[in-house]
Amino acid sequence: MKKVLFVCLGNICRSPTAEAVFQQLISVKGAESSWEVDSAGILSVHQGEAADPRMRKHASRRGYQLTSISRQVRSSDFSEFDLIIAMDGSNYADLEKMAKTDTRKARLHRMMEFHPDQFPADVPDPYYGGEEGFEKVLDLVEDACEGLYQQYK
Ligand code: 4NP
Repeated sequence: MKKVLFVCLGNICRSPTAEAVFQQLISVKGAESSWEVDSAGILSVHQGEAADPRMRKHASRRGYQLTSISRQVRSSDFSEFDLIIAMDGSNYADLEKMAKTDTRKARLHRMMEFHPDQFPADVPDPYYGGEEGFEKVLDLVEDACEGLYQQYK
């Protein structure tokens, strides 16, 4: 069993999208029983909320239902998960600071390491932007999820 946690700032746009896209990918590949997939946020401000309605709308057009509820990253995540994947460099830096525990098991990555172009370096935060930002998240996350799967299957 491989356990992966996707992390962004609020856990209402990018990381719930990555969770749903990766969950669907492993289902299509017939690998669901080998993986456990979750997502979380650096911030707690959206804790208990469903994903952003704009993100849900764009994701559902591509066949992804975002059902996860926002939660904050907790210290036990670093010993429970094998992989923790940050959506951008700021999330990665915050995770690095939090990860300094003796019981750490998780490997930290940035999501775009798994994208075939490895560019841009970050999955851009769509929260304060327009519709195209949500489509960009989906484009980048879909390709990066395939790369992640190929690396760790
Ligand atoms: P996310 O987007 O990190 O992709 O979930 C954001 C959601 C909320 C905020 C920032 C980014 N916020 O500042 O509340």
